[in-house]
Amino acid sequence: MALKSYRDDTLICHAGNSPRANHGVINPPVYHASTVLFPTLADLESAERNRYAKTTYGQFGTPTTFAFEEALAALEGQGKAMALPSGLAAITVTLLAFLKAGDHLLVADSAYQPTRIFCGDLLMRLGVETTYYDPCIGAGIGALIRPNTRMVYVESPGSLTFEIQDIPAIAAAAHGAGALVVADSTWATPLFLKSLALGADIVVHAVTKYIAGHSDLMMGAIVAKDEHFHAIKTTGHRLGFAAAPDDCYLALRGLRTLSVRLRRHEENALRLARWLAERPEVERVLHPALPDCPGHDLWRRDFTGATGLFSIVLKPVPQAGLAAMLEGLRLFPMGWSWGGYESLILPEKPAAVRTATRWADTGPLLRIHAGLEDPDDLIADLEAGLARLETAD
Ligand SMILES: Cc1ncc(COP(=O)(O)O)c(C=O)c1O
Repeated sequence: MALKSYRDDTLICHAGNSPRANHGVINPPVYHASTVLFPTLADLESAERNRYAKTTYGQFGTPTTFAFEEALAALEGQGKAMALPSGLAAITVTLLAFLKAGDHLLVADSAYQPTRIFCGDLLMRLGVETTYYDPCIGAGIGALIRPNTRMVYVESPGSLTFEIQDIPAIAAAAHGAGALVVADSTWATPLFLKSLALGADIVVHAVTKYIAGHSDLMMGAIVAKDEHFHAIKTTGHRLGFAAAPDDCYLALRGLRTLSVRLRRHEENALRLARWLAERPEVERVLHPALPDCPGHDLWRRDFTGATGLFSIVLKPVPQAGLAAMLEGLRLFPMGWSWGGYESLILPEKPAAVRTATRWADTGPLLRIHAGLEDPDDLIADLEAGLARLETAD
């Protein structure tokens, strides 16, 4: 089906499906495969020359993998996609595909912590130097670019502190100096942010989160502009990564409902964020759609929506009060991996992680994932939780 002319909500319903090739069945079947057979020597030799172009070996993907990849790239609007076994694998493959000893990398100070750990450990051992920068730097990034800067890494918004970054300004400076721009756009998904159209060369998604959407699988994906895709694909395969076909099937099924789920996550998160902003226990709310969030104007310019993850900073409270609040919540269990249908909460300490910018708040940061529950029930649970902050001895 020629899909290029369709809008996103139509694309997510149809991209990647080929019922005629699958006995009329709508969803692509799950192909479990390691060995792929070739009937003739010519076929075998052709597959050897062209091993990534079709189904040649389980590790290089199956028709289920390709269906998911095709759908994701269609939604991103350009480029080609590669599925990987986790979001972190998508990040590390992207970094390893382009960086070599002697290169310099710029990473937003707000980036997902395991990305920083990879840079400070493996990349450092390989001779790549990382400098962290203020996520609100915008065009000022130019001053940090060195002759050996090969890549600028953005995560907009940071998935803990929610600063929105000026991707077009960063891309203009990076490209002017011959550096690539990589964006972790897990929070927005391709539905709410077209990272490649804004100037990123490569976008990574933790499919584990909203795209899969049901808290039951680990997967990542890279979508790269055509000229960068070969480096991504070969690096992923040289490292031996293969996304499991069952997971590709579930991720594609999740993608089909992404649009309706995201709008409900957005609505619920905004209800909670606005309610929390009025509470005396709350110092500030970090939500890109609220006017005082750093980069709010950029969010309005570049994004088409806000998803369900945001943070609040509480006024300083004793640890016992915080424990009483968090442990008594019924609809906000504590857990790391967000993007499922359920609400979550997580206490975090950004000050301990940052190096380029200072985190001045002394009260605890609570990252909240607004799930798909009834928002009145969520508010009642948080209200009772905030009341426990004071009552604990
Ligand atoms: C912004 C962001 N990027 C990447 C990842 C990594 O994804 P995964 O858990 O699938 O490795 C996460 C996970 O929390 C994340 O929050």
